[in-house]
Amino acid sequence: MSEISSILKESRKFEPKKEFSKSSHIGSMAAYNKLRKAADKNPTAFWNKQAKELQWQKPFKKTLEWKFPFVKWFTGGKLNAAVNAVDIHLTTGRRNKAAIIWEGEPGDVRTITYQQLSIEVNKLANSLRSMGVKKGDVVGIYMGMVPEASMAMLACARIGATHNVIFGGFSGEALRDRLNDSKAVCLLTQDGVYRRGVPSSLKGAIDEKLDEVPTLKNVLVLKRTNQETPMLEGRDQWWHEVVNPQSSECKAEVLDSEHPLFILYTSGSTGKPKGILHTTAGYLTQVKYSMRMVFDLQESDIYFCTADIGWITGHSYVTYGPLMNGATVFLYEGAPNFPAFDRFWDMIDRHKISIFYTAPTAIRAFMRAGDHLPKKHNLSSLRLLGSVGEPINPEAWMWYQKHIGGGKCPIVDTWWQTETGAIMVSPMPGAVPTKPGTATLPLPGILADVVNKDGKSCKANEGGLLVIKHPWPSMLRNVFGNTERYINAYFSDFKKQKYYFTGDGARKDKDGYIWIMGRVDDVVNVSGHRLGTAEVESALVAHPKVAEAAVVARPDDLKGSALVAFVTINIKDLLSNPTHLELEALKTELKNWVAKEIGPIAKPDDIRFTDALPKTRSGKIMRRLLREMVTTGKTTGDTSTLEDFSALEKLRADEE
Ligand code: WT7
Repeated sequence: MSEISSILKESRKFEPKKEFSKSSHIGSMAAYNKLRKAADKNPTAFWNKQAKELQWQKPFKKTLEWKFPFVKWFTGGKLNAAVNAVDIHLTTGRRNKAAIIWEGEPGDVRTITYQQLSIEVNKLANSLRSMGVKKGDVVGIYMGMVPEASMAMLACARIGATHNVIFGGFSGEALRDRLNDSKAVCLLTQDGVYRRGVPSSLKGAIDEKLDEVPTLKNVLVLKRTNQETPMLEGRDQWWHEVVNPQSSECKAEVLDSEHPLFILYTSGSTGKPKGILHTTAGYLTQVKYSMRMVFDLQESDIYFCTADIGWITGHSYVTYGPLMNGATVFLYEGAPNFPAFDRFWDMIDRHKISIFYTAPTAIRAFMRAGDHLPKKHNLSSLRLLGSVGEPINPEAWMWYQKHIGGGKCPIVDTWWQTETGAIMVSPMPGAVPTKPGTATLPLPGILADVVNKDGKSCKANEGGLLVIKHPWPSMLRNVFGNTERYINAYFSDFKKQKYYFTGDGARKDKDGYIWIMGRVDDVVNVSGHRLGTAEVESALVAHPKVAEAAVVARPDDLKGSALVAFVTINIKDLLSNPTHLELEALKTELKNWVAKEIGPIAKPDDIRFTDALPKTRSGKIMRRLLREMVTTGKTTGDTSTLEDFSALEKLRADEE
């Protein structure tokens, strides 16, 4: 019972291309092994060295204090995150380099140099101070993808306020609850955002809910769409009116290493959202290091990460990571399918983007839209691709490599979590050979392992639980205001061993590569075999007609559980308007396909076609919801719940 059976068969392997390795930070397996061996033997010493890449106002004394399950890194030191992301570049040749190139959905483009970014961040930081925001206060950020959103995070960091970014697609209720839970005193927001060509109200839509946040004293509203916006006298002010007159000089607060940098509520497919708390020095250290190494960042890169700032990826790899490394980061405001499904490819072509980082859910949607779309554009500026958010099924990986990467770009499949703050498992692209569907090896200094429920390492290819055996710098420090939940969620399963439990099922292959099998909550038990749903889904998606699949179990007298697969089919297959009989035939074909691909044990008992799968706002399939539907049996002929989530909404979960 304790093991999870792994059934995915995948043996393709891709060596890094010589041209890529030649100029990359770690260009060979030998160099990689040397680095990793030393780091794994003494992670504390390894991270001590990486922390020295930061700018310190006062050097730290102690590298690690670990009193299970509480951790402190780099204590005794003083620093500031905004100084590390912006100021350090002002005395170098990067001063006039583009920090941010932003494209609005209507097509307007802004380029912001590091010098200009510094001016804007300082003015905004002074504005916050002028409104009475102090070190230690929590500031909510509820914005779209505009440069001011990153500036808002940095301005908070500069004055030692803790930011709490709430995804701009969340409802007023969700916003209110997160502001209240974190006791926010100030909110930075905007009048409206562009959504597939139409300006839609942001502040106006949630305005009433702000009255239910008693701690909220100030609201600053950025003008973007000129939306009619209610403004409450004494609380709400226009951004430009407050910010423009401010001085562009702003003394950065000198902060302890463990000063709270931000709270971010996990989207969570289960339960009440948790306020994941990250602090300053450890977070910055690992984010800076992983950004440079995983994306093999070079001075001339233009880097595009499609994540919204409302997610951890938007914190670590849209804002802090690229800026700390002096990179040029490309930001895009709108929907991936506006005006058509080739918007990303068009922007890569026009802006000569060289690194592209997105999510499997988006890649599958692009596949579904058709190969002809990327073919319309010159994508030859790309040199590296990344994936994050869920297991990437090998078929999507292969499509990404061929149709976006032109067969030449390495793909970094990066495993991490809101809680881990930074990438934990990923290939180093110049050294580690990749295999479609695995995030490969832990980063140097990250002691990730797959263990059984007694905490013993699993044998090769034996399914088990993914744990981290040694603290890492960018680890969450607590669940805001709920230490009990922090302990229960992450440290109660392997108390004796003092391991952090990720909640994910995984296996390690004979090369030590980690294959994520999905959240353990999503494991299904069929005839005594515990199967990760991700593997069955991956097999389904490998069928040429299938775009996406979600597999859940319903109770079955005979087998314990029966597998139900929810399947969306490719647009071109859908457009041919299949008849009922054809769909029934396709069901049989798919069942047999899975039986052939991975064995009869995984053959779905039931297949249901749907236009869209229910997903969290960050694009994760909410299998729990589907599970409820198949167990209560209320779904016969009724797909209304599913249709509430349009297929496009899934992409960046930001269209409405
Ligand atoms: C969970 C964390 C990390 C930023 C976005 C998600 C799944 C994430 C991968 C990957 C397989 C992955 C895991 C993890 N996940 N990346 N490369 N391969 N699974 O952050 O919302 O905190 O979710 O996403 O299940 O535990 P998150």
